[in-house]
Amino acid sequence: MLVLVTGGAGYIGSHTCVLLQEAGHEVLVFDNLSNSHPEVFNRITQISGQPVAFSEGDIRDKAALERVFNQFDIDAVIHFAGLKVVGESISEPLRYYQNNVEGSLNLFDVMAANGCKKLVFSSSANVYGDPDSFPIKEDFPLSTFNPYGQSKLMIENILKDVGRADPDWEISLLRYFNPVGAHPSGLIGEDPNGIPNNLMPYVAQVALGRLPQLNVFGGDYPTIDGTGVRDYIHVMDLADGHLKALSALNKKHGCEVYNLGTGKGYSVLQVVEAFAQASGRDIPYQIVDRRSGDIAISYADPTRSQEKLGWRAQSGLAQMVEDHWRWQSENPDGFE
Ligand code: NAD
Ligand code: UFG
Repeated sequence: MLVLVTGGAGYIGSHTCVLLQEAGHEVLVFDNLSNSHPEVFNRITQISGQPVAFSEGDIRDKAALERVFNQFDIDAVIHFAGLKVVGESISEPLRYYQNNVEGSLNLFDVMAANGCKKLVFSSSANVYGDPDSFPIKEDFPLSTFNPYGQSKLMIENILKDVGRADPDWEISLLRYFNPVGAHPSGLIGEDPNGIPNNLMPYVAQVALGRLPQLNVFGGDYPTIDGTGVRDYIHVMDLADGHLKALSALNKKHGCEVYNLGTGKGYSVLQVVEAFAQASGRDIPYQIVDRRSGDIAISYADPTRSQEKLGWRAQSGLAQMVEDHWRWQSENPDGFE
């Protein structure tokens, strides 16, 4: 199958490209490199032994998407391209809606015009807002408090309507919990610009000595140790979820939603401790005020993905931090 991977140069996309190639699929990456580095393609090739076809372009540029679909006979699309920083989305909502929603509309339109109606879309656990109970199931009420989450919810709703209107579409909406870790080779991993916003890359930079200490946002949540609890999922497990979701698409599939999480939550301090063990480094931290917009707890009920996709996360926290640390310590400057 020839799979167009939008955002395939990014963190989750690059790991998915490796697994797609290893499973015998042809991969074509479409990315504007706004949050990624072209060195990633050499690294993917080093792992998979296969070159990566790459078309540099922006999903907001419909003509560029049309050219790609005219040139290649694309069987399916995995759509990762998007901006993902919650705080940035609050200060720059228009950029987020334009990039994520308008870009996605262009993509779906060009897909439809070319009769390509198989799609796997990157959604987020952010669409659950602040749930009343746990674990979180796919049919929980949806709400979100920021433009990033809104953009994901809008795209989900658009795709549900598209699926209802035209039964030829086969669509999976994958709601990721907290992706962390890296390919076990240490050749690819997350390479955030500037100071990381997310916990694991921040902790990794503290372990490297690049940042003096971790600020733990909140020590008074109703959790095991007062710090926030999340469902961290190894990026290789997440990538595997995309392969399983792609294979599960068929004419009877319609538009289906799946949680991709492990089902187990860890607190910030549990992550810090696991990272200190894996790296053999001290992770100094201080507890500071809660971060605005954060929720106390989030973890998935992955039963539907297990039953319908035959997918189950394999790696535990120790593996996640070990692989994250290998990538970060062997590539302290990321792909530079
Ligand atoms: P990433 O930033 O590493 O990858 C996204 C890629 O998309 C980058 O390579 C970027 O250059 C590209 N891109 C962005 N806007 C584009 C545009 N207009 N046209 C073409 N390419 C564009 O992010 P990631 O962590 O790999 O996330 C991938 C997807 O998963 C995103 O849609 C994100 O919202 C979603 N997601 C991520 C997380 C997470 O914590 N990493 C959690 C839930 C959902
Ligand atoms: N945290 C700290 N200090 C930091 C960074 C994070 O204490 O420097 C804490 C947060 O308060 C939270 C936990 O670590 O309790 C995880 O925070 P992240 O920023 O790593 O992740 P979030 O759960 O806030 O959000 C992530 C993505 C969102 C996505 C969501 C669900 O950033 O885009 O997971 O998938 F929507």
